Amino acid sequence: MNTEGLYTESWIQDAWDKAAAKVTSASARIGAQFPHGSHEGRFQFMPPHYWTAGFWPGLLWLVYQDQVQKDEELRQLAESCEEKLDTVLQEYERLDHDIGFMWTLTSVANWQITQNEASRHRAMIAASHLMARFNVKGQFIRAWNQPERVGWAIIDCMMNLPLLYWASKQSGDPRFRHIATAHADTVVKHFIRDDGSAYHIVCFDPETGERVSARGGQGYAEKSAWARGVAWAIYGSVLSYRHTGRTGFLEAAERAAGYFLTNLPEDRVPYWDFRLPTFEHGPKDSSAAAIAASGLLDMAAVMEGEQAEFYKGEALSILKSLTQQYTSDDTEEAILLYGTGNVPMNQNINRPLIYGDYYYVEALSKLRGHSSFWGPEE
Ligand code: GLY
Repeated sequence: MNTEGLYTESWIQDAWDKAAAKVTSASARIGAQFPHGSHEGRFQFMPPHYWTAGFWPGLLWLVYQDQVQKDEELRQLAESCEEKLDTVLQEYERLDHDIGFMWTLTSVANWQITQNEASRHRAMIAASHLMARFNVKGQFIRAWNQPERVGWAIIDCMMNLPLLYWASKQSGDPRFRHIATAHADTVVKHFIRDDGSAYHIVCFDPETGERVSARGGQGYAEKSAWARGVAWAIYGSVLSYRHTGRTGFLEAAERAAGYFLTNLPEDRVPYWDFRLPTFEHGPKDSSAAAIAASGLLDMAAVMEGEQAEFYKGEALSILKSLTQQYTSDDTEEAILLYGTGNVPMNQNINRPLIYGDYYYVEALSKLRGHSSFWGPEE
Protein backbone atom coordinates (compact mmCIF):
# COMPACT_ATOMS: atom_id res chain seq x y z
CA MET A 1 0.00 0.00 0.00
CA ASN A 2 1.41 3.41 -0.91
CA THR A 3 1.43 5.55 2.19
CA GLU A 4 4.02 8.05 1.03
CA GLY A 5 3.86 11.38 2.78
CA LEU A 6 0.53 10.68 4.39
CA TYR A 7 0.89 9.31 7.82
CA THR A 8 3.59 11.21 9.60
CA GLU A 9 1.32 12.74 12.23
CA SER A 10 2.54 12.08 15.73
CA TRP A 11 -0.78 10.72 17.02
CA ILE A 12 -0.44 7.79 14.61
CA GLN A 13 3.06 6.95 15.82
CA ASP A 14 1.94 7.31 19.44
CA ALA A 15 -1.15 5.16 18.85
CA TRP A 16 0.96 2.43 17.28
CA ASP A 17 3.57 2.51 20.04
CA LYS A 18 0.92 2.29 22.73
CA ALA A 19 -0.99 -0.53 21.01
CA ALA A 20 2.16 -2.54 20.25
CA ALA A 21 3.31 -2.17 23.86
CA LYS A 22 -0.08 -3.38 25.08
CA VAL A 23 0.04 -6.46 22.87
CA THR A 24 3.55 -7.27 24.09
CA SER A 25 2.73 -6.86 27.76
CA ALA A 26 -0.60 -8.73 27.44
CA SER A 27 1.22 -11.62 25.77
CA ALA A 28 2.83 -12.55 29.09
CA ARG A 29 -0.57 -13.46 30.57
CA ILE A 30 -2.51 -14.47 27.45
CA GLY A 31 0.22 -16.66 25.97
CA ALA A 32 -1.09 -19.04 23.32
CA GLN A 33 -4.74 -18.79 24.36
CA PHE A 34 -7.75 -17.39 22.52
CA PRO A 35 -9.14 -14.18 24.01
CA HIS A 36 -12.56 -12.85 23.08
CA GLY A 37 -14.29 -10.22 25.29
CA SER A 38 -12.62 -8.48 28.20
CA HIS A 39 -14.24 -8.33 31.62
CA GLU A 40 -12.94 -6.25 34.52
CA GLY A 41 -9.75 -5.48 32.70
CA ARG A 42 -8.82 -8.99 31.55
CA PHE A 43 -9.63 -10.93 28.41
CA GLN A 44 -11.70 -14.06 28.82
CA PHE A 45 -10.67 -17.08 26.79
CA MET A 46 -12.57 -19.23 24.31
CA PRO A 47 -11.79 -22.70 22.96
CA PRO A 48 -9.78 -22.79 19.72
CA HIS A 49 -12.73 -23.71 17.51
CA TYR A 50 -14.49 -20.40 18.28
CA TRP A 51 -14.63 -17.95 15.35
CA THR A 52 -12.41 -15.40 17.08
CA ALA A 53 -9.42 -17.76 17.42
CA GLY A 54 -7.37 -16.00 14.74
CA PHE A 55 -7.44 -12.48 16.11
CA TRP A 56 -4.90 -12.80 18.93
CA PRO A 57 -2.30 -14.60 16.80
CA GLY A 58 -3.12 -12.09 14.06
CA LEU A 59 -2.33 -9.23 16.46
CA LEU A 60 0.94 -10.91 17.44
CA TRP A 61 1.91 -11.17 13.77
CA LEU A 62 1.00 -7.50 13.10
CA VAL A 63 3.30 -6.35 15.88
CA TYR A 64 6.05 -8.85 14.99
CA GLN A 65 6.19 -7.92 11.32
CA ASP A 66 6.63 -4.23 12.18
CA GLN A 67 9.55 -4.77 14.54
CA VAL A 68 13.10 -4.03 13.45
CA GLN A 69 14.46 -6.07 16.36
CA LYS A 70 12.14 -9.07 16.21
CA ASP A 71 10.67 -10.31 19.46
CA GLU A 72 10.74 -14.03 18.68
CA GLU A 73 8.54 -14.73 21.69
CA LEU A 74 5.63 -13.11 19.82
CA ARG A 75 6.22 -15.27 16.76
CA GLN A 76 6.41 -18.41 18.90
CA LEU A 77 3.12 -17.59 20.61
CA ALA A 78 1.40 -16.97 17.26
CA GLU A 79 2.75 -20.28 15.97
CA SER A 80 1.60 -22.10 19.12
CA CYS A 81 -1.93 -20.74 18.58
CA GLU A 82 -1.78 -21.93 14.97
CA GLU A 83 -0.67 -25.40 16.08
CA LYS A 84 -3.53 -25.56 18.60
CA LEU A 85 -5.92 -25.03 15.69
CA ASP A 86 -4.72 -28.28 14.12
CA THR A 87 -7.14 -30.31 16.23
CA VAL A 88 -9.97 -28.05 15.02
CA LEU A 89 -9.09 -28.82 11.39
CA GLN A 90 -9.86 -32.47 12.16
CA GLU A 91 -13.22 -31.76 13.83
CA TYR A 92 -15.34 -31.57 10.73
CA GLU A 93 -18.66 -31.00 12.53
CA ARG A 94 -17.27 -28.00 14.40
CA LEU A 95 -15.89 -26.20 11.37
CA ASP A 96 -18.08 -23.53 9.85
CA HIS A 97 -17.81 -20.56 7.48
CA ASP A 98 -15.49 -18.71 9.89
CA ILE A 99 -12.59 -20.87 8.73
CA GLY A 100 -11.46 -17.81 6.76
CA PHE A 101 -11.12 -15.56 9.81
CA MET A 102 -9.32 -18.33 11.69
CA TRP A 103 -6.73 -19.51 9.17
CA THR A 104 -6.09 -16.23 7.36
CA LEU A 105 -4.78 -14.62 10.53
CA THR A 106 -2.78 -17.68 11.59
CA SER A 107 -1.53 -19.81 8.71
CA VAL A 108 -1.78 -17.32 5.82
CA ALA A 109 -0.17 -14.65 8.01
CA ASN A 110 2.62 -17.07 8.97
CA TRP A 111 3.12 -18.08 5.34
CA GLN A 112 3.29 -14.44 4.22
CA ILE A 113 5.85 -13.51 6.86
CA THR A 114 8.01 -16.65 7.13
CA GLN A 115 7.13 -18.76 4.06
CA ASN A 116 6.50 -21.66 6.44
CA GLU A 117 5.45 -24.61 4.26
CA ALA A 118 3.43 -26.27 7.05
CA SER A 119 1.33 -23.10 7.35
CA ARG A 120 0.66 -23.04 3.63
CA HIS A 121 -0.49 -26.65 3.86
CA ARG A 122 -2.84 -25.90 6.78
CA ALA A 123 -4.34 -22.90 4.98
CA MET A 124 -4.96 -25.01 1.86
CA ILE A 125 -6.82 -27.62 3.94
CA ALA A 126 -8.88 -24.88 5.59
CA ALA A 127 -9.69 -23.33 2.20
CA SER A 128 -10.81 -26.72 0.91
CA HIS A 129 -13.21 -27.10 3.84
CA LEU A 130 -14.55 -23.59 3.22
CA MET A 131 -15.01 -24.22 -0.49
CA ALA A 132 -16.94 -27.39 0.30
CA ARG A 133 -19.62 -25.38 2.11
CA PHE A 134 -20.79 -23.87 -1.17
CA ASN A 135 -24.41 -24.46 -2.12
CA VAL A 136 -24.43 -24.68 -5.93
CA LYS A 137 -28.15 -24.01 -6.37
CA GLY A 138 -28.19 -20.95 -4.13
CA GLN A 139 -24.64 -19.79 -4.99
CA PHE A 140 -23.77 -19.12 -1.35
CA ILE A 141 -21.40 -20.46 1.29
CA ARG A 142 -23.34 -22.01 4.10
CA ALA A 143 -22.92 -20.31 7.48
CA TRP A 144 -23.48 -22.45 10.57
CA ASN A 145 -23.99 -26.19 10.98
CA GLN A 146 -27.36 -26.67 12.69
CA PRO A 147 -29.66 -28.73 10.44
CA GLU A 148 -32.34 -26.01 10.47
CA ARG A 149 -29.76 -23.52 9.19
CA VAL A 150 -28.64 -25.49 6.18
CA GLY A 151 -29.78 -22.70 3.83
CA TRP A 152 -28.47 -19.74 5.84
CA ALA A 153 -25.73 -17.36 4.75
CA ILE A 154 -24.43 -14.32 6.62
CA ILE A 155 -22.82 -11.00 5.74
CA ASP A 156 -19.74 -11.69 7.94
CA CYS A 157 -18.71 -14.43 5.52
CA MET A 158 -17.45 -11.78 3.08
CA MET A 159 -14.33 -11.65 5.26
CA ASN A 160 -13.80 -15.40 4.82
CA LEU A 161 -13.47 -15.12 1.04
CA PRO A 162 -9.83 -13.90 0.99
CA LEU A 163 -8.77 -17.40 2.11
CA LEU A 164 -10.34 -18.77 -1.09
CA TYR A 165 -8.74 -16.12 -3.31
CA TRP A 166 -5.41 -16.88 -1.66
CA ALA A 167 -5.86 -20.63 -2.22
CA SER A 168 -6.53 -20.12 -5.93
CA LYS A 169 -3.35 -18.10 -6.30
CA GLN A 170 -1.32 -20.62 -4.34
CA SER A 171 -2.59 -23.66 -6.16
CA GLY A 172 -3.25 -22.24 -9.61
CA ASP A 173 -6.71 -23.78 -9.32
CA PRO A 174 -9.47 -21.26 -10.10
CA ARG A 175 -12.23 -23.21 -8.32
CA PHE A 176 -11.61 -21.48 -4.98
CA ARG A 177 -11.88 -18.06 -6.64
CA HIS A 178 -14.95 -19.07 -8.64
CA ILE A 179 -16.75 -19.99 -5.44
CA ALA A 180 -15.64 -16.86 -3.60
CA THR A 181 -16.80 -14.70 -6.50
CA ALA A 182 -20.14 -16.50 -6.77
CA HIS A 183 -20.78 -16.04 -3.04
CA ALA A 184 -19.82 -12.34 -3.25
CA ASP A 185 -22.22 -11.91 -6.20
CA THR A 186 -25.00 -13.41 -4.08
CA VAL A 187 -24.18 -11.02 -1.25
CA VAL A 188 -24.28 -8.00 -3.55
CA LYS A 189 -27.64 -9.16 -4.91
CA HIS A 190 -29.37 -10.30 -1.73
CA PHE A 191 -27.66 -8.73 1.28
CA ILE A 192 -26.50 -5.20 0.48
CA ARG A 193 -29.54 -3.00 0.14
CA ASP A 194 -29.87 -0.08 -2.28
CA ASP A 195 -29.13 2.38 0.50
CA GLY A 196 -25.92 0.52 1.44
CA SER A 197 -27.17 -1.04 4.67
CA ALA A 198 -27.09 -4.84 4.88
CA TYR A 199 -29.02 -7.83 6.14
CA HIS A 200 -27.15 -9.96 8.63
CA ILE A 201 -28.73 -13.31 7.66
CA VAL A 202 -30.41 -14.33 4.42
CA CYS A 203 -32.10 -17.75 4.26
CA PHE A 204 -32.27 -19.71 1.02
CA ASP A 205 -34.07 -22.91 0.15
CA PRO A 206 -31.10 -25.30 0.16
CA GLU A 207 -32.69 -27.50 -2.52
CA THR A 208 -33.85 -24.90 -5.03
CA GLY A 209 -31.55 -22.02 -4.02
CA GLU A 210 -34.45 -19.54 -3.88
CA ARG A 211 -34.23 -16.70 -1.37
CA VAL A 212 -36.80 -17.43 1.33
CA SER A 213 -36.39 -14.77 4.01
CA ALA A 214 -34.01 -12.59 5.97
CA ARG A 215 -33.36 -12.42 9.70
CA GLY A 216 -32.12 -9.82 12.15
CA GLY A 217 -29.40 -12.07 13.56
CA GLN A 218 -27.00 -9.96 15.60
CA GLY A 219 -28.80 -6.80 14.51
CA TYR A 220 -31.84 -5.15 16.09
CA ALA A 221 -34.33 -6.46 13.51
CA GLU A 222 -34.59 -7.99 10.06
CA LYS A 223 -34.65 -4.61 8.31
CA SER A 224 -32.35 -2.77 10.67
CA ALA A 225 -28.69 -2.08 9.98
CA TRP A 226 -26.37 -3.95 12.33
CA ALA A 227 -23.30 -1.72 12.44
CA ARG A 228 -20.69 -4.49 12.33
CA GLY A 229 -22.59 -6.13 9.49
CA VAL A 230 -22.28 -2.94 7.42
CA ALA A 231 -18.58 -2.80 8.31
CA TRP A 232 -18.15 -6.41 7.11
CA ALA A 233 -19.96 -5.41 3.90
CA ILE A 234 -17.54 -2.52 3.29
CA TYR A 235 -14.36 -4.41 3.98
CA GLY A 236 -15.43 -7.74 2.47
CA SER A 237 -16.64 -6.10 -0.74
CA VAL A 238 -13.51 -4.06 -1.32
CA LEU A 239 -11.41 -7.18 -0.70
CA SER A 240 -13.38 -9.07 -3.32
CA TYR A 241 -12.73 -6.16 -5.67
CA ARG A 242 -9.01 -6.20 -4.90
CA HIS A 243 -8.82 -9.93 -5.56
CA THR A 244 -10.93 -10.01 -8.73
CA GLY A 245 -10.93 -6.51 -10.23
CA ARG A 246 -14.71 -6.73 -10.66
CA THR A 247 -16.15 -3.24 -10.37
CA GLY A 248 -19.50 -4.45 -9.02
CA PHE A 249 -17.74 -5.32 -5.77
CA LEU A 250 -16.17 -1.88 -5.52
CA GLU A 251 -19.56 -0.27 -6.15
CA ALA A 252 -21.03 -2.42 -3.36
CA ALA A 253 -18.23 -1.32 -1.03
CA GLU A 254 -18.92 2.33 -1.92
CA ARG A 255 -22.62 1.91 -1.27
CA ALA A 256 -22.01 0.30 2.13
CA ALA A 257 -19.36 2.91 3.00
CA GLY A 258 -21.74 5.71 2.02
CA TYR A 259 -24.38 4.35 4.39
CA PHE A 260 -21.90 3.78 7.22
CA LEU A 261 -20.28 7.20 6.99
CA THR A 262 -23.43 9.27 6.59
CA ASN A 263 -25.06 7.63 9.57
CA LEU A 264 -22.20 7.92 12.03
CA PRO A 265 -22.71 9.99 15.16
CA GLU A 266 -20.49 12.96 15.87
CA ASP A 267 -17.65 10.93 17.39
CA ARG A 268 -17.50 8.68 14.27
CA VAL A 269 -18.14 5.47 16.24
CA PRO A 270 -21.52 3.86 15.55
CA TYR A 271 -24.11 2.57 17.93
CA TRP A 272 -24.36 -1.21 17.59
CA ASP A 273 -27.21 -0.86 15.07
CA PHE A 274 -27.85 2.19 12.89
CA ARG A 275 -31.62 1.74 13.08
CA LEU A 276 -32.41 1.56 16.78
CA PRO A 277 -35.72 3.13 17.87
CA THR A 278 -33.72 5.23 20.32
CA PHE A 279 -30.01 5.73 20.77
CA GLU A 280 -30.40 6.87 24.35
CA HIS A 281 -29.28 3.56 25.88
CA GLY A 282 -27.86 1.97 22.76
CA PRO A 283 -24.27 0.91 23.33
CA LYS A 284 -21.61 1.82 20.82
CA ASP A 285 -19.58 -0.73 18.87
CA SER A 286 -15.98 0.36 18.55
CA SER A 287 -15.17 -2.88 16.70
CA ALA A 288 -17.46 -1.84 13.82
CA ALA A 289 -15.61 1.47 13.59
CA ALA A 290 -12.21 -0.26 13.53
CA ILE A 291 -13.28 -2.78 10.86
CA ALA A 292 -14.77 -0.04 8.70
CA ALA A 293 -11.68 2.16 9.07
CA SER A 294 -9.40 -0.64 7.92
CA GLY A 295 -11.71 -1.37 4.98
CA LEU A 296 -11.83 2.32 4.03
CA LEU A 297 -8.03 2.35 3.84
CA ASP A 298 -8.24 -0.47 1.31
CA MET A 299 -10.81 1.56 -0.64
CA ALA A 300 -8.44 4.53 -0.64
CA ALA A 301 -5.66 2.25 -1.88
CA VAL A 302 -7.60 1.22 -4.99
CA MET A 303 -8.88 4.70 -5.84
CA GLU A 304 -7.25 7.82 -7.13
CA GLY A 305 -7.42 11.57 -6.66
CA GLU A 306 -10.25 13.07 -4.65
CA GLN A 307 -11.97 9.78 -4.04
CA ALA A 308 -8.84 8.25 -2.55
CA GLU A 309 -8.34 11.36 -0.39
CA PHE A 310 -11.94 11.17 0.76
CA TYR A 311 -11.74 7.56 1.96
CA LYS A 312 -8.33 8.12 3.55
CA GLY A 313 -9.65 11.16 5.38
CA GLU A 314 -12.69 9.25 6.66
CA ALA A 315 -10.58 6.33 7.85
CA LEU A 316 -8.19 8.66 9.64
CA SER A 317 -10.97 10.56 11.32
CA ILE A 318 -12.49 7.32 12.68
CA LEU A 319 -9.10 6.07 13.84
CA LYS A 320 -8.32 9.40 15.50
CA SER A 321 -11.58 9.31 17.41
CA LEU A 322 -10.96 5.70 18.48
CA THR A 323 -7.47 6.67 19.60
CA GLN A 324 -8.53 9.75 21.52
CA GLN A 325 -11.82 8.60 23.00
CA TYR A 326 -11.95 4.79 23.01
CA THR A 327 -8.50 3.51 23.99
CA SER A 328 -7.98 2.08 27.44
CA ASP A 329 -5.61 2.98 30.25
CA ASP A 330 -3.18 0.64 32.02
CA THR A 331 -5.90 -1.03 34.10
CA GLU A 332 -7.29 -2.73 30.98
CA GLU A 333 -5.55 -5.48 29.02
CA ALA A 334 -7.39 -4.74 25.79
CA ILE A 335 -6.68 -1.74 23.57
CA LEU A 336 -10.15 -0.50 22.57
CA LEU A 337 -13.05 0.05 24.95
CA TYR A 338 -16.79 -0.08 24.21
CA GLY A 339 -17.26 -2.86 21.71
CA THR A 340 -20.55 -4.66 21.42
CA GLY A 341 -20.55 -8.35 20.59
CA ASN A 342 -24.10 -9.62 20.43
CA VAL A 343 -26.99 -7.65 21.92
CA PRO A 344 -29.78 -10.14 21.05
CA MET A 345 -27.82 -12.86 22.89
CA ASN A 346 -26.81 -10.45 25.66
CA GLN A 347 -23.12 -11.23 25.13
CA ASN A 348 -20.19 -8.84 25.49
CA ILE A 349 -22.04 -5.53 25.52
CA ASN A 350 -19.96 -2.41 26.08
CA ARG A 351 -16.80 -4.47 26.42
CA PRO A 352 -13.43 -4.60 24.73
CA LEU A 353 -13.42 -7.24 21.98
CA ILE A 354 -10.38 -8.94 20.52
CA TYR A 355 -11.50 -8.27 16.95
CA GLY A 356 -11.92 -4.56 17.72
CA ASP A 357 -8.30 -4.55 18.84
CA TYR A 358 -7.22 -6.58 15.82
CA TYR A 359 -8.76 -4.29 13.18
CA TYR A 360 -7.64 -1.12 14.97
CA VAL A 361 -4.04 -2.34 15.03
CA GLU A 362 -4.35 -3.65 11.46
CA ALA A 363 -5.47 -0.19 10.27
CA LEU A 364 -2.55 1.47 12.09
CA SER A 365 -0.23 -1.11 10.57
CA LYS A 366 -1.47 -0.15 7.08
CA LEU A 367 -0.68 3.47 7.90
CA ARG A 368 2.88 2.28 8.61
CA GLY A 369 3.11 0.82 5.12
CA HIS A 370 2.25 -2.83 5.75
CA SER A 371 -0.19 -4.85 3.68
CA SER A 372 -2.89 -6.77 5.49
CA PHE A 373 -3.06 -10.56 5.65
CA TRP A 374 -6.31 -10.51 3.63
CA GLY A 375 -4.30 -9.86 0.49
CA PRO A 376 -3.88 -9.67 -2.34
CA GLU A 377 -0.17 -10.05 -1.75
CA GLU A 378 1.71 -7.20 -3.43
N1 GLY B 1 -20.18 -13.32 13.94
C1 GLY B 1 -19.27 -12.34 13.64
C2 GLY B 1 -19.51 -11.06 14.33
O1 GLY B 1 -19.93 -11.07 15.46
O2 GLY B 1 -19.29 -10.05 13.75
